[in-house]
Amino acid sequence: MSTDILGVPHAVIRADEYIGYKIPKGAGAMWNVWAVHMDPIRHPDPRRFDPARYIDDHQTAAEAASNPDASKRDHFVFGAGRRLCQGMHIGERSLFLSMSRLLWAFSFQKADDADGKEIVPDADNLTEGLFVLPKAFPEKLYQEMLKESRR
Ligand code: HEM
Repeated sequence: MSTDILGVPHAVIRADEYIGYKIPKGAGAMWNVWAVHMDPIRHPDPRRFDPARYIDDHQTAAEAASNPDASKRDHFVFGAGRRLCQGMHIGERSLFLSMSRLLWAFSFQKADDADGKEIVPDADNLTEGLFVLPKAFPEKLYQEMLKESRR
């Protein structure tokens, strides 16, 4: 899932050519992260939540970003090239810490509707803009269960 669907805009410092396209000096260039992430050749069934896709990938974000074989990069959310995110080490570790602590402290479950049926969040119901995230959806958070188990 791309959180930045288009990279941060840049401009080319000299005229260039890429697969037959002429790029004039000063032209804006944006990195289409969404298109790369949604490429079914790179990621079969790309919108399916499937952490097992990366089960054999032991690279850190920085190692993946500097892998000369672009097909071995897990994602491009930190950008690409020499303006790559300088904070990816902090970003990756902060995400790991916050997610693992949330999973340690809470039990997350889908909320029920009035008939007691589970409400499945729509993975395509996203906020709009350069950066996207899921719109708020109902859920059940059970910190209480944790307290119970400690008594
Ligand atoms: C999950 C968290 C983060 C994400 C998704 C993220 C994403 C990005 C992206 C997409 C860019 C533009 C890259 C490009 O133009 O190709 C960028 C640039 C940058 N990021 Fe991050 N970032 C994150 C966290 C951080 C943190 C924690 C720091 C600093 C402590 C940081 C510092 C920077 C800097 C300094 C740049 C500019 C690099 C340059 O233009 O040379 N980022 N980031």
